[in-house]
Amino acid sequence: MKILTLETTCDETAAAVVTDRLEVLGAVVASQDDLHARFGGVVPEIASRAHVERILPVIDETLRRAGVALGELDAVAVANTPGLAGSLLVGLSAAKAMCVALGIPLIAVNHLQAHIYACRLASRQEVFPCVGLIVSGGHTSLYRCLGPLDFELLGATIDDAAGEAFDKVASMLRLAYPGGPSIERAAEKGNPRAYAFPRPFLKDLDRLDFSFSGLKTAVRYTIAGPGRPDFQQVQLAQQQVADLAASFQEAVADCLAGKAVLALERTGMQILCVGGGVAANQRVRQRLEEETRRRRVRLHVAPLRLCTDNAVMGAIAVERYRAGLFEDLDLDVYPGVARQTEGDSPVFATRKPGQSPGNV
Ligand code: KG4
Ligand code: ZN
Repeated sequence: MKILTLETTCDETAAAVVTDRLEVLGAVVASQDDLHARFGGVVPEIASRAHVERILPVIDETLRRAGVALGELDAVAVANTPGLAGSLLVGLSAAKAMCVALGIPLIAVNHLQAHIYACRLASRQEVFPCVGLIVSGGHTSLYRCLGPLDFELLGATIDDAAGEAFDKVASMLRLAYPGGPSIERAAEKGNPRAYAFPRPFLKDLDRLDFSFSGLKTAVRYTIAGPGRPDFQQVQLAQQQVADLAASFQEAVADCLAGKAVLALERTGMQILCVGGGVAANQRVRQRLEEETRRRRVRLHVAPLRLCTDNAVMGAIAVERYRAGLFEDLDLDVYPGVARQTEGDSPVFATRKPGQSPGNV
């Protein structure tokens, strides 16, 4: 069985062909980093327009690399939640068009579940039940994952996502976008104890939430105190940039490792799976390894190529195919994060009575 998986939740246009034996026959990721770099972050309207231009060439190239003809596909899977509304729509529309033209079923992929499934895919062994930690540009959340399609939210960031904080702090330090890899590089020559940045909620054992907005402000005030709108003009020495980057990265890594461990203790689970762009960070990986080794917990962190957005992790569609979970062609996009499900429909924490989930 061969499934074409599409991923356009944010600023990567990606496709892959996977089999029911979880083999990857071909995969392509077209990054948009160059388009968003000068803005220091993803501009949603630019992202969706770029998806429109790239989706068909990306699908073509994926099928060519896989050596698979359109007629050999058994289903098309697409990430339809969560993400940027306009970006999600491009992937969903392409998937629907292919399903109609080829007369094959449509499968919905939850992007966050897919990030955790990257661990299942790479390890080639069962990883469920586990605690799932997703750390990306848009999300920082902990889940009790009873199965690949059965997630219960334990906690999440109350403001910025970890990756978002990396990107914004990089911009303050005038490092290149995307900020995560730039901060990691700058931090190599820095002292992680040079600045005592806050670790929000770390000591609060009642919460499994994160907060990175205050940490970001702490970096900003270290560069130049409050009431200094000219802080962008402050000249920082190279060593200062390295020390700020290392100290910031250490604070984020401590928060992620601390809350992941608390979630393991709370749930009594013995396996931790970690995915998302920030999971590519070596210091974050190291801190998670230290904490899990001490507690004899099995740790699976997605391999680097599967941390940032890709369509290979859409192989989770195989689980839905096996469970007979196919979608009608009126399937919508759900940009917000579902906190729980009611039957097969996502329920949104911020949804008001009568409001469609697609509008959250
Ligand atoms: O998972 P992803 O590709 O997209 C979302 O679903 O958001 O994550 C992108 C985020 C960006 O904020 C980027 O700065 C961050 O992941 N990132 C990193 C690293 N590589 C990417 N953060 C820290 N260290 C890295 N090496
Ligand atoms: Zn992602």
